[in-house]
Amino acid sequence: MTLKRLSVVLLACLTLSACGGVDPNSPLGQRKAIFKEMLKTSEDLGGMLRGRVTFDGQRFTDGAIKLDSLAHEPWKHFPVVKEADHTSAKDDVWQKQAHFQELARSLESATGELVLATNAKPFKASTLSPAVQKVEDACEACHKEFRDH
Ligand code: HEC
Repeated sequence: MTLKRLSVVLLACLTLSACGGVDPNSPLGQRKAIFKEMLKTSEDLGGMLRGRVTFDGQRFTDGAIKLDSLAHEPWKHFPVVKEADHTSAKDDVWQKQAHFQELARSLESATGELVLATNAKPFKASTLSPAVQKVEDACEACHKEFRDH
């Protein structure tokens, strides 16, 4: 991409139309960006275990640490009162905040356990796979209850 083309894209984003209408600095924009990064990181970990990407112990460990730190980030970008119209978050996020936070904690503890699992050397799929599965289950459990589609 040329620099000129890049700035055209950036400008288009600034007008908010080409970026799905979401202001990247809004709470919605910020949590979406974190969730996307979480997905990318967890898919990379899953891919290494399922043979889609070559397994690399250092890359796996770094990814686990990154995922654990990302797992703590989205929640502060859900304001106490629902603020966005174009959100895929169900109203229950705001109506059942305690339960939502509980599932957030459960993801954080799953990613924490995943980091611990990477300390066991040599790396074994039999240790790492269940730990990744637990993280994926924690994502899924919350999406089922709190995310539309
Ligand atoms: C405690 C609840 C919860 C957990 C745990 C959770 N999510 Fe989500 N996720 C949500 C909600 C709510 C939304 C919708 C956000 C919005 O649109 O306001 C969402 C949205 C997303 C999106 C869509 C972002 C976009 O561009 O619209 C992705 C991707 C995603 N989550 C990935 C993940 C991954 C991967 C994990 C686990 C590593 C995870 N989530 C764990 C609640 C959760």
